[in-house]
Amino acid sequence: MRVLSVVGARPQFVKLAPVADAFARDGVEHVIVHTGQHYDEGLSGVFFADLRIPAPDVHLAVGSGSHGAQTGAMLTALEPVLAEARPDWVLVYGDTNSTLAGAVAAVKLHLPVAHLEAGLRSFNRRMPEEHNRVLTDHAADLLLALAEVAMGHLADEGLAARSVLVGDVMTDVCYRVRDAVLAGGLPTVAGAAPGEYVVATIHRAENTDDPDRLRRIVAGLAAVPAPVALAAHPRLRTRAVEHGITLETGSIRVIDPLPYPAMVAAVLGSRGVVTDSGGLQKEAYLLGRPCTTLRGETEWPETLEGGWNVLSPDADGLADLALRPAPEGERPPWYGDGAAARAVARVLTERAIG
Ligand code: UD1
Repeated sequence: MRVLSVVGARPQFVKLAPVADAFARDGVEHVIVHTGQHYDEGLSGVFFADLRIPAPDVHLAVGSGSHGAQTGAMLTALEPVLAEARPDWVLVYGDTNSTLAGAVAAVKLHLPVAHLEAGLRSFNRRMPEEHNRVLTDHAADLLLALAEVAMGHLADEGLAARSVLVGDVMTDVCYRVRDAVLAGGLPTVAGAAPGEYVVATIHRAENTDDPDRLRRIVAGLAAVPAPVALAAHPRLRTRAVEHGITLETGSIRVIDPLPYPAMVAAVLGSRGVVTDSGGLQKEAYLLGRPCTTLRGETEWPETLEGGWNVLSPDADGLADLALRPAPEGERPPWYGDGAAARAVARVLTERAIG
């Protein structure tokens, strides 16, 4: 069986890592296509190196652009690559423009498409990620869901017959890296010792592109009475300059985006996480640190139970929320036990046609 993975943005490299391992173990022929959506070393190359992912077989170097221009450029570039490779499955990951482009390019060529992380919904139709999820799920032939809530969403949309629950491959990689980090000891982050600081990230268009909203979030983080290590995505830096907003103010200490193992270590060493990232909300949950999410909704409603994750759409009261203690209750294993990638390899093998 030949599987062609389409990836392009940071969270997809994290998901690709355990899947590529499982394919190698099972002798699956694996072609990796990188669209080039993320091209900075800190958002791309370092993930391949740290997570020991095989180098992409094809790099499309599409780069940045408006949603339509970026997605369209990917479609154009992907078509001949998919046509030539003729894989048994095109595998797309998550909810980025690279996901949608991979799915559309494949269905147009009548190639079977599987969507990993299917069925997630925020129900916020203003998010580009939400369009990408819904459209990809409805285009794909096989929907690999990571939790029961996602299976429910797929069933509600009439997609139950194409859906399979496999667990979450991000749990696989998070636990693997956590164990390695704990063996090596926790780091100092932005000059702050383990147990003293908060980790923050902001990159969603809904938070960065409106100057008033970004100003409010930065003011909230600046007022946290502990060092806030803000790992700044390029979109955040660019928008802050455009809006005339200084990021390095009050408690905020701006640092570069962190490689995956360094982020896991930073979360483990933190008092809590403040973020609008999807992946980081779940990593905070898996690693047992309280998370404050700078959005009005989450794709991970399970993390809200017991107070591990709290939504803060207006960044009100952030100073207190960010430093609230970890809840005492258990964290149910909503996202599987770290064996999802093996399930992905098995399901794709069982369902390959021909
Ligand atoms: C993308 C995904 C988002 C994901 C995020 C993870 C979409 C619609 N969004 O958002 O779901 O959570 O990746 O990081 O696909 N830029 C650079 N260097 C890079 C990449 C981007 O400087 O390597 C800058 C460019 O100015 C670009 C902007 O960041 O215009 C946004 O990049 P883009 O890939 O369009 O979206 P992200 O915000 O990264």
